[in-house]
Amino acid sequence: MKYFIAANWKMNKTLAETREFLRSFVPAVQKVTDVDVVLAPPFTALEAAAEGLKGSNIQLAAQDIFWEEKGAYTGEISSVMLLDAGCKHVIIGHSERRQYFSEEDVIVNRKVKAAKKAGLGVIFCVGESLEEREAGKTFDVIKREVELGLAEVDPGNLVVAYEPIWAIGTGRTATSEQAQEVHAYIRKILGNLYGNKAEDVRILYGGSVTPDNVDSLMACRDVNGALVGGASLKPESFAKIVCFKKEN
Ligand code: PGA
Repeated sequence: MKYFIAANWKMNKTLAETREFLRSFVPAVQKVTDVDVVLAPPFTALEAAAEGLKGSNIQLAAQDIFWEEKGAYTGEISSVMLLDAGCKHVIIGHSERRQYFSEEDVIVNRKVKAAKKAGLGVIFCVGESLEEREAGKTFDVIKREVELGLAEVDPGNLVVAYEPIWAIGTGRTATSEQAQEVHAYIRKILGNLYGNKAEDVRILYGGSVTPDNVDSLMACRDVNGALVGGASLKPESFAKIVCFKKEN
């Protein structure tokens, strides 16, 4: 299965910073053919990024979407607009959206459906908090988020990202064993929903991925890529992650 590695820039980078990043990042990864390389800048930088990525092997993603196509929804951005800006994918259900913007599973599900209907690839995020992990609820949380978030959603063009909240931006990465355990569980839930097709859904790990830990994480059986925040902001470090060392 082809790896999928995406940069989630979150609320970072102006237009000038975006252009500067691309000037060194695009040539640094131009020979990469065995990884789908994806960049998710903030909305304001999408157009500039699309321009800078023209003719490259890097695909553009947005960090969020609203489920209606247009209308009186102040501050929101629709699938039509994302496609127009050159996006191929959209991140949905990131824990920061769930946490700071009260995005519940039903909202996440509406967004996933709208994105899929428009032909956008979906990077669907799930993950437990430290409190939930310590209370032994990791699997329950993951099961609920996957089943509700993906209700009535087919597996085509779908990527799932497992991002333990306690590992995001904390420098505390899940061990390969912890990641593999939850990834295998996600694969099992997807199997209940999609049968054999679950084998083709790429499951990304996210949470303090760096050039130093990427090789061992990617070596896990059910880890098919990464969603990278902090370490994706510097072209050199994100290029190193994209060019991680394959086992064979
Ligand atoms: P991080 O963020 O790599 O900075 O931990 C990952 C994410 O939130 O997608």
